[in-house]
Amino acid sequence: MDGLLHQAEWVRLEAMSGLDQAAQSAQGQYFTPERASALVASLPRLSRAESLRILDPGAGSGMLTAAIVDRVCREGLIARLEVTAVELDSTLISTLAKTAELCRQHGLRTGVEVEVKVVQGDFITLQTGLEAELGDDFDLVIMNPPYKKLAALSWQRRAMAAMGWETGNLYAAFLALGVDSLGPGGQLVAITPRSFANGPYFERFRQRLLSQVVFDRLHTFESRSTVFADTGVLQENVVFTATKGGAPRRVTITSSHDHTDGLSERTVRYEELVSPDDRHRFIRITTDNDDDRAVKAMRSLPASLSTLAVKVSTGRVVDFRARQNLQDTPASGSLPLVYPGNLRGGRIQWPRSIGKAQGFQLLHEADAKALLPSGFYVVVKRFSAKEERRRIVAAVWDPTQHGDQPVAFENHLNVFHAGGEGLDRELAWGLCGWLNSSVVDRYFRTFSGHTQVNATDLRSMNYPGEEALRRLGHELDSLPGQEELDQLVSKMTLETAAA
Ligand SMILES: C[S@@+](CC[C@H](N)C(=O)[O-])C[C@H]1O[C@@H](n2cnc3c(N)ncnc32)[C@H](O)[C@@H]1O
Repeated sequence: MDGLLHQAEWVRLEAMSGLDQAAQSAQGQYFTPERASALVASLPRLSRAESLRILDPGAGSGMLTAAIVDRVCREGLIARLEVTAVELDSTLISTLAKTAELCRQHGLRTGVEVEVKVVQGDFITLQTGLEAELGDDFDLVIMNPPYKKLAALSWQRRAMAAMGWETGNLYAAFLALGVDSLGPGGQLVAITPRSFANGPYFERFRQRLLSQVVFDRLHTFESRSTVFADTGVLQENVVFTATKGGAPRRVTITSSHDHTDGLSERTVRYEELVSPDDRHRFIRITTDNDDDRAVKAMRSLPASLSTLAVKVSTGRVVDFRARQNLQDTPASGSLPLVYPGNLRGGRIQWPRSIGKAQGFQLLHEADAKALLPSGFYVVVKRFSAKEERRRIVAAVWDPTQHGDQPVAFENHLNVFHAGGEGLDRELAWGLCGWLNSSVVDRYFRTFSGHTQVNATDLRSMNYPGEEALRRLGHELDSLPGQEELDQLVSKMTLETAAA
């Protein structure tokens, strides 16, 4: 007879083939494949106990329930397992009940008393309000929660705020209620997107999460495409366990290419995961020595954007709000409008045929607010394309190339400027070279698992001193190949920082 998890995999495949596509994306119905489920269930600590109470919110076809039951029965440390599996979608309940029955039978065969209670309902409704209807003393919460943005005025967002949690995404609400459902010392194990680890959007969520739990283990996948390959999900995921009310200790970080190959493992001090001096509470996941070196190199740098007197803001033109001002091709009297598609190899090609307006026309006095005066600016894409090798893609707007005139930057760009004015040429090229370097890319990836580059991320980094940046900028007026750039960056900036 095949193992429990393998049987559950068949149930999963059958369930997935019957999913209604609209409901699948509306309710985030991406079920965890067998190998990834086993990996999630392998992370929490299990010790000898009479019984264990487990919660699986958003249980889908029950893969994670099956994976943890499988592990507990194999290790034989626990006599009785009580799992509560919650699922919103009524059409999945019979499937979930099938997996629950497989679990019960597996328990009978292996001498563990396994009870799986299937609850049909909305996890947010059940666990917010005056009573946690499912209970708040679980030993373990295991989840692959649904992902969906929550609008500011949505009832879920308000219900969570009443519980003291700021959650802009359904997955964060699930994590929050997962924490609330645990008794002291209970463990949360989850597979989620990495987006909560940095950025302003999740900051208040992160602050509270980190005040309630300590992370024990984290696992990242180097390849974002393969973990949920058969579900069409393309994003960077992290698997982690955290203990409610635990004391910070060393954290184990593992990574694998996908969920099928061997793991590489390391441990880091808790302060390396969450730096005590970081008021944004970024969660930094360094997976190898190169990551460590990048973090050390960055930390040793002397400057910040404020000591450099440089500011970074998002481009001021929100195109759908400024339709009347936009011109497909720049005509006389219109000013340059720059989109991410204009960035080419460290420079800005303008005008360029990218299917976006290239001219900005002043119609009213107030339109001038959208412009920056003539000058050198460094721009960074706010969203890098998946096929781009680097997360941070920077380029210089050079007024000597484009004419001495004001310029408008579209909102999908971050713009480096000197208090609303241009930078000088050397500083601009120095910053551009630096931002495009591999060390910055590595460092960035230790705290950001998505393709978004926020202005806060750029503000939170250390930078080489002004002199070093100018020296680097002096050498550049376009971007050389990556290797050559990295050598130059290392010589002009890192070596001097280390000296
Ligand atoms: C990403 S899937 C994961 C399913 C399962 N945990 C697994 O790992 O295969 C999330 C599940 O949560 C369910 N769901 C969505 N919103 C929910 C809610 N508010 N309450 C309970 N379940 C919900 C979806 O129907 C879906 O089955």
